[in-house]
Amino acid sequence: MISPALILLSSFLCHAAIAGRTCPKPDDVPFSTVTPLKTYYEPGEQIVYYCKAGYVSRGGMRRFTCPLTGIWPINTLKCTPRVCPFAGILDNGAVRYTTFEYPNTISFTCKPGYYLNGTNSAACTEEGKWSPELPVCAPITCPPPPVPKFATLKVYKPSAGNNSLYRDTAVFGCLPHHAMFGNDTATCTAQGNWTELPECREVKCPFPSRPENGFVNYPAKPVLFYKDKATYGCHDTYALDGPEEVECTKLGNWSAQSSCKASCKLSVRKATVLYQGERVKLQERFKNGMLHGDKVSFFCKNKEKKCSYTEEAQCIDGTIEIPKCFKEHSSFAFWKTDAWDVKPC
Ligand SMILES: *[C@@H]1O[C@H](CO)[C@@H](O)[C@H](O)[C@H]1NC(C)=O
Ligand SMILES: *[C@@H]1O[C@H](CO)[C@@H](O)[C@H](O)[C@H]1NC(C)=O
Ligand SMILES: *[C@@H]1O[C@H](CO)[C@@H](O)[C@H](O)[C@H]1NC(C)=O
Ligand SMILES: *[C@@H]1O[C@H](CO)[C@@H](O)[C@H](O)[C@H]1NC(C)=O
Ligand SMILES: *[C@@H]1O[C@H](CO)[C@@H](O)[C@H](O)[C@H]1NC(C)=O
Repeated sequence: MISPALILLSSFLCHAAIAGRTCPKPDDVPFSTVTPLKTYYEPGEQIVYYCKAGYVSRGGMRRFTCPLTGIWPINTLKCTPRVCPFAGILDNGAVRYTTFEYPNTISFTCKPGYYLNGTNSAACTEEGKWSPELPVCAPITCPPPPVPKFATLKVYKPSAGNNSLYRDTAVFGCLPHHAMFGNDTATCTAQGNWTELPECREVKCPFPSRPENGFVNYPAKPVLFYKDKATYGCHDTYALDGPEEVECTKLGNWSAQSSCKASCKLSVRKATVLYQGERVKLQERFKNGMLHGDKVSFFCKNKEKKCSYTEEAQCIDGTIEIPKCFKEHSSFAFWKTDAWDVKPC
């Protein structure tokens, strides 16, 4: 006969044996979820770990049963981020990144002269793919440059089909009678347009005026234009002050205006002077007078030191000032030594 008490006891023991102790809430595994998630589990209850989207398990158990001991088995599950394909190199550009793992974002830039065909950043998705797709750096091109009015394209070679690449240049010229304002060279910019184009404008110059005691020659045309030339000349005994040839400038005036200046008559009968570094006899070298601008150096005496020094004189429009220190001897005073025969100081 089995006592009811014993049945009760054995059924309790049996229950305890089957039920064991409850398991606690399972340990967190980074980037995973547990189902079902409860605060305790009866022995025999099952749980499953799932890696969150974008993470995958590498080895380790996913499914566990709460044992009678109430202690979850050791869990070696590791959820690691998905890794997107290598994207560290962008031709003609650069990639900024930390890693290529979910859920990171990488960003792109292109070298000057290239533009990003695509977006400037991409994210590694849960599926381990880049989204949006990786961009490329495509060369920037400039369309053929427009040719300004009255200009010609002197040097131009499209290097990308009909277009030009970044830093390519085009060189312009102007039609005759036209002067250029601005740079003759335009450059294809990183923005895909050309730097400022030059401007060509028609430029006229007035007829140059005849100088006093001289003449000016220029082309026999009704109008004188940019780059036309005129030449000046002077009548006898007059010398040109200024260039012989002048040109019509882009500002519509002549590059210079020359005039004719009178030559100087010599008041000195006889002297040896320095002319362009050489000793010459003044009365011979300048027997027709000195021309405007001519410069000579006269010798003077330093009486105390008994030596000679020079002083310069220049013919300016008919006038030359003979240095005061210069002394001309009467030709009868043959016993006197001329300054130019005295040793230099
Ligand atoms: C830019 O990218 C699009 C799509 O990938 C492609 O069809 C197009 O040809 C690209 N353009 C250049 C200039 O590379
Ligand atoms: C260049 O331009 C010509 C004329 O407009 C055209 O026929 C040709 O297809 C273009 N070539 C390229 C490479 O774009
Ligand atoms: C004209 O432009 C070129 C290139 O852009 C530059 O190198 C050059 O110095 C410029 N010339 C002048 C006169 O500004
Ligand atoms: C070229 O394009 C840029 C950007 O669109 C603009 O700022 C610039 O003024 C343009 N340059 C010229 C010379 O037109
Ligand atoms: C030509 O004209 C400009 C502007 O009027 C002036 O600055 C320049 O000095 C002139 N040149 C000559 C050689 O007269």
